Amino acid sequence: MEPVIQRFPDIFETAFSSGQFLKCTLSKPVPTAPEGLKNIYLRPVALKAGPRIAFTYRYKTRDEVKNFTLAEAKQQLEQLLGALFLNADLFTTEQDVTLSFAKNGKATLSAKKPTQTEPADTRHDREKHRLLDPAAPWLHDLGITNAKGEVLSTAQDKWKQINKFLEIVDSLLRDHPLPPNAQIADMGSGKGYLTFALYDFLSRRPGLSPSVTGIELRQNLVDFCNKIAQKAGFAGLQFIANDINDFQPERLDLLIALHACDTATDLALAKGIHARAGIVIVAPCCHKQVRRDMETHNELAPILRHGILEERQAEIVTDGIRALLLEANGYKTNVFEFISTEHTAKNVMITAVDGGRETVDGGRRAVDGGRREEALKKVAALKAGFGIREHYLEKLL
Ligand SMILES: C[S@@+](CC[C@H](N)C(=O)[O-])C[C@H]1O[C@@H](n2cnc3c(N)ncnc32)[C@H](O)[C@@H]1O
Repeated sequence: MEPVIQRFPDIFETAFSSGQFLKCTLSKPVPTAPEGLKNIYLRPVALKAGPRIAFTYRYKTRDEVKNFTLAEAKQQLEQLLGALFLNADLFTTEQDVTLSFAKNGKATLSAKKPTQTEPADTRHDREKHRLLDPAAPWLHDLGITNAKGEVLSTAQDKWKQINKFLEIVDSLLRDHPLPPNAQIADMGSGKGYLTFALYDFLSRRPGLSPSVTGIELRQNLVDFCNKIAQKAGFAGLQFIANDINDFQPERLDLLIALHACDTATDLALAKGIHARAGIVIVAPCCHKQVRRDMETHNELAPILRHGILEERQAEIVTDGIRALLLEANGYKTNVFEFISTEHTAKNVMITAVDGGRETVDGGRRAVDGGRREEALKKVAALKAGFGIREHYLEKLL
């Protein structure tokens, strides 16, 4: 008779081939397993390339997903069972099967009635709710995934950032939907990761047909991104080589500017406010301007003689004033940690949505006077306390 340990991958193979496979978890890692790896979760997925098994490697602080063909998945199981994991629970529509290893290495296989008899849903809900398909060819062209649609180990942080960003957009849009043919700009789009992700995500929304423009100083990046957009058939996505300052949008519904250097974030915010963008999302980076200008006179002065504390304080003041200036211009703002510092140091995000409190004033929109006054007073007090002669966004506005 076939040894117990070999029977498990065979049962898995039969279940998968007959559509009975639901899920499987490999648990109880041995001490020599990769550090932080807690378990591996398997589920069937329907990819464009055909049926696959997604292996989610669950580490203490992150997940990694790899998709395997049946033959590859079976081989993985043969290599992992007993060697790296001492327990495996397989769920099929016919039976629940458990393989466990005792301390002496002896394997036991047991089966019981199935917990679930409904076949696995490999497509519907997951695809409906999926923010991004890792098999999208543009992800490969941008160097995030390999040809099999697997996220490269070197691109895991970027992948997390992209997905987190889309989650934030998704949740903002629930309360503030975009109009059809939404006009969207990504200012300081760089290599276009987020611009592509945003376009891919939004263009799949029925009736939206967005037009997304990446604005980027560097011509080589613009050419690179336009080539990939064309290859992907993304007709509503374009990149232009321009300074944010010279970009004159006729209409803006959504503005994003992530990690646009120093005052480029202020340029982007000013463009968004002037164009009265419905939603603004920025993740500022390198706050040099305010730091250069800061001469603290308030009670924090004695502690800000330490360079690192002064740097952090300058960041807080810069972004705090940005949020207040948005509020002074009728936006409701939110400042929060975008993604854990483990993935990027540039992790503060400011989101702003048009507060809808404008009144018509001489044909131009004006915000609620009282609120504006209040916010501007706070800006003035902060500037006085920290000896800031000028905040670039205030100057632009
Ligand atoms: C750090 S990258 C970030 C790219 C992208 N937004 C991201 O988060 O992956 C910042 C980009 O902004 C561009 N940039 C900086 N100032 C700019 C300006 N005034 N106008 C247009 N692009 C600018 C830079 O060339 C650079 O590619």
